[in-house]
Amino acid sequence: MGLSAPAIATRKVCDGGEPLVMVTAYDAPGARIASEAGADLILVGDSVAMVVLGYDDTLQVTVDDMVHHTAAVARAKPDCHIVGDLPWMSYHVSPEETVRNAAWLMRAGAHSVKLEGGRKRLPMIEKIIDAEIPVMGHIGLTPQSIHTMGGFKVQGTEPEHARKLVQAAKSLEHAGCFSVVLEGVPVRVAEMVTEAITIPTIGIGAGMHTDGQVLVYHDLLGIEDRFVPKFVRRYADLKGQSVAAMKAFADDVRSGAFPNHEESYHMATSEAEELAGLYGSQG
Ligand code: KIV
Repeated sequence: MGLSAPAIATRKVCDGGEPLVMVTAYDAPGARIASEAGADLILVGDSVAMVVLGYDDTLQVTVDDMVHHTAAVARAKPDCHIVGDLPWMSYHVSPEETVRNAAWLMRAGAHSVKLEGGRKRLPMIEKIIDAEIPVMGHIGLTPQSIHTMGGFKVQGTEPEHARKLVQAAKSLEHAGCFSVVLEGVPVRVAEMVTEAITIPTIGIGAGMHTDGQVLVYHDLLGIEDRFVPKFVRRYADLKGQSVAAMKAFADDVRSGAFPNHEESYHMATSEAEELAGLYGSQG
């Protein structure tokens, strides 16, 4: 299972803690890779909508989709804390529905859930925590608010908005969140938020002063190459390597080089002779 939510809650860099490493993963092979690489947390993010399912934003995935992917990650039994992402409209309608949706993710194998937004989400966060489910907050650029933000835009660039982000982080801590994702904010704002709260901040596009970092699997490994945001560092070119490998396969099939003798099944000589006797040909 990896780190528990209470263990994560105390991991502050300012207290000498090592920065937390979180990556997204959406299936069993991805979870095994993250676990063998030593990630502390796997986020089964609603980014699955864009990087796996081909949608243009994250609003299209449902609780059923997130349960399906969370269960696939959990079946790999990674040595990581699994965070299930609550999708848009799964925690907006009523406290009852919210708790039930969070429970579905936990039953699928998550160890905690994440949801986007600050103060206006506090009543729902408190209900989820009351149901003994640890909650990770997410403020700054919140992709589920793409339409109200007017696009995927850096947040907190004006002093008043930056101050509100610090307040939002404090209220998430006060409500009982065990950590907070800070997405798409200036370095200085991320630093101020990180200093203002005692639970760890995990940054994405938030600079180097947070208590941890998260990247999307397909960005980190270079599988998604259509748009590379400024904050992404690509540690591999798996898209390029995959295209080259499949092209080599296609060339081998077309030239007859695949499969060869060793890659094929063969009958024992006596059986092949008997078959030849029956049908008058070599097997
Ligand atoms: O869904 C996701 O991948 C996320 C990260 C970008 C933090 O929420």
